[in-house]
Amino acid sequence: MYPVPDIISPAEIIDSHAHYNDKRFDGIIDGLMKKQKELGVKRIINCGCDFESIDACLRLGEKYDFCYTAVGFHPENLPEGDLDIERLRALAALDKVCAIGEIGLDYYWRQDNKEAQKKAFRDQLRLAKDLGLPAIMHDREAHGDTLDIIREYRPKGVLHCFSGSREMAEELVGLGIYIGIGGVLTFKNAKKLIEVAAAIPMDKILLETDAPYLAPEPFRGKLNHSALIIYVAERLAEIRGMRLEEVIRITTENSEKLFSL
Ligand code: NI
Repeated sequence: MYPVPDIISPAEIIDSHAHYNDKRFDGIIDGLMKKQKELGVKRIINCGCDFESIDACLRLGEKYDFCYTAVGFHPENLPEGDLDIERLRALAALDKVCAIGEIGLDYYWRQDNKEAQKKAFRDQLRLAKDLGLPAIMHDREAHGDTLDIIREYRPKGVLHCFSGSREMAEELVGLGIYIGIGGVLTFKNAKKLIEVAAAIPMDKILLETDAPYLAPEPFRGKLNHSALIIYVAERLAEIRGMRLEEVIRITTENSEKLFSL
C-alpha cells in the first residue's frame, strides 16, 4: 500500500513529474488516484521514457481526467541507433500531451555512450522547439554537458530533480529554465538543494515527485505519490519563511504557466 499524509493540502497541488505507469502502482492505482484528489492533487504529469512507457502514460491520461503526459526518451532507455523522432512528433500531437520528456543526460547510469546521449538530447530539444512545447529534462552527474546543451538550444522547460549547485541553478533561471524540486529537499543530507531552494526566485520553482521514487520524509524509502508533495512544500515554506498555502499556490501557477494547463 501507499503512505497517507497526515495533512490535507490547503491549496491545489500539481505534480510536474511522475511515473504512474510503474509496476509498483499495479492494483492500487484506481484507489490511489481517487485518494490523491481528496488530498488536494489537481494535476499530474506522467513522463514517458520510451515508446512502451509513453503508451502507458497516454492511457493513464485517457483514464484519469487530471493526468497529462510528457513524451520522450530517457537517457537510460535509448535504442541502438537513432531515435524515431517522427514517431515522437506524432505522439506529441495527441490529446493531453503537454511536454517533451523526460530527456537529458545520465552519466551515473552510463559513461560509454555519452555522444549518443547528447545526440538524443539535442534531437529531442529540437523537436520541443519545433512544436513549441516545454522540455522536461534529466541531469544526473552530467551538469557540465547539460548546461552546455541548454545554453546552445535555449529551450523552455524544467530541469527536474535538480541536483546541481546554486551557481548552476542561477544560470539556468537566467536562461528561463524552471527548477524541479522533490522529496530530496526533505532529506537530512540536502544541504546543497536547500541552498538552491532558498536562493532562486519562487516563480521558477516546480514541485514534483518522480513517483514511485524519492518519497519525502517522513516516508523516505516508501512508495512515493503526488499527495506526499505536501511535505516538500512544507519544507520549502520553512526554508523561504513563507506560508504553506502560498508556496503551493505559486508553484501550481508555475506549472500551469510552463505546461499551458
Ligand atoms: Ni523521472
